[in-house]
Amino acid sequence: MDKIIITGGEPLKGSVRISGAKNSALPIMAATLLAEGTSVISNIPHLRDVETMAAILRALGAKVRFSGDSRVSVNPGKLIQPLVPYDLVRTMRASICVLGPLLAKLGSVKVAHPGGCVIGPRPIDLHLKGLRKLGAKIEIEHGYIVAEAKARLKGSEIYLGGSFGSSVLGTANVMMAATLAKGRTVIEGAACEPEIVDLANFLNKMGAKVKGGGTHILQIQGVKKLEPAEHAIIPDRIEAGTYMVAGAITGGEVRLKGARFEHLQAVVDKLEEAGLIVNRTKEGIKVHLRAKLKAVDITTLPYPGFPTDMQAQMMVLMSISEGIGVIIERIYPDRFMHVSELLRMGANIMREGPRAIVKGGAKLSGAPVMASDLRASAALVLAGLVAEGETEISRVYHLDRGYERIEEKFSKLGARIRRVEE
Ligand code: EPZ
Repeated sequence: MDKIIITGGEPLKGSVRISGAKNSALPIMAATLLAEGTSVISNIPHLRDVETMAAILRALGAKVRFSGDSRVSVNPGKLIQPLVPYDLVRTMRASICVLGPLLAKLGSVKVAHPGGCVIGPRPIDLHLKGLRKLGAKIEIEHGYIVAEAKARLKGSEIYLGGSFGSSVLGTANVMMAATLAKGRTVIEGAACEPEIVDLANFLNKMGAKVKGGGTHILQIQGVKKLEPAEHAIIPDRIEAGTYMVAGAITGGEVRLKGARFEHLQAVVDKLEEAGLIVNRTKEGIKVHLRAKLKAVDITTLPYPGFPTDMQAQMMVLMSISEGIGVIIERIYPDRFMHVSELLRMGANIMREGPRAIVKGGAKLSGAPVMASDLRASAALVLAGLVAEGETEISRVYHLDRGYERIEEKFSKLGARIRRVEE
């Protein structure tokens, strides 16, 4: 397994191109199953999770072809077997988002239950509730979700809000299924993430009739058939946020080419409060430090609230800022795998249930650390960029799931970072 070695202390300078959004690419690749014929998706990030989704589509019988310029074409063809095996689902929970399209298209599908992961139990009750409301019969048998729709799915009024707010992939699954249902579906308590808007836009290009993308109320008028379409994925707001934090903590000046300011308002708000200057530019976003960083308080919430996928990265910034900051993790109360590794680097963090109290002013020092999940691993890279001495991060396959060529991009910004094959 590869390792990443970083020698901290270099202020980052220059510009970095932000890749296509992982969390948009995955449901949109699944949505191509809804049509007959070849859809072409561009600005696809080159990530392990995208390769896993391609493997799932191929296992179903689809033809998937990547071309050099970040494009992927998918032709579902005659889907041979509507079965998504556990060995693929357990490597990527997002596999669950083929459930809605396959149910709508084929009327029967078996997908391994994704189970949980290090950031939490990851239930799918809202996905199943929404699909049942559309008329599907769903049982959990021997670790598989067995879904049947004897007749065509039927539109319905569905409330999808859960005890942790809306569900992104739950909304995606039900919205995709509803596009081919008979009649009108209203999803209340829908997720408003930009990735849901991107998916709705792609579905409409395929001939679906989805209204309200980006609001909590989606209205979908079912149609008989969807056509393949072409679409460019939106930029990855979490990758962009990660590089913004890197610019802030190293005291540099970083330009994020292609980043969409309007997708990052909550993150910009907190970074400005911490002392960063964030400017909109015609190519994207520019960040540089105005004064010494000061600690802020973060509560993670569904979009447009502060994104849980940026919590670990902000914890690094708070660790080295002046003052004490409190993090309240309202989406995944256990999403603190990064804390133990940051403590090894000299951070001063006390965890209390879904809260973490971060005492700033830490002088981080490099150490051998272990990546555990995607965003926790990104936090370890950030900590390594500012730590005194050398940080060695193992199990970087976690990073490769969601960050395209991270060591190349950081090297181009002046970081002393390299990947070694173990
Ligand atoms: C998406 O996961 C993202 N993944 C996650 O990003 C992100 O952290 C999450 O949304 C929240 O923003 C993709 O889009 C591929 P949810 P998703 O359903 O859709 C609870 C990353 O690092 N819930 O919005 O699986 C759930 O437990 C990944 O890129 C239910 O209770 O998350 C959580 O507390 C990590 N029942 C909350 O809702 C359900 O049926 C939000 O989960 C579904 C979810």
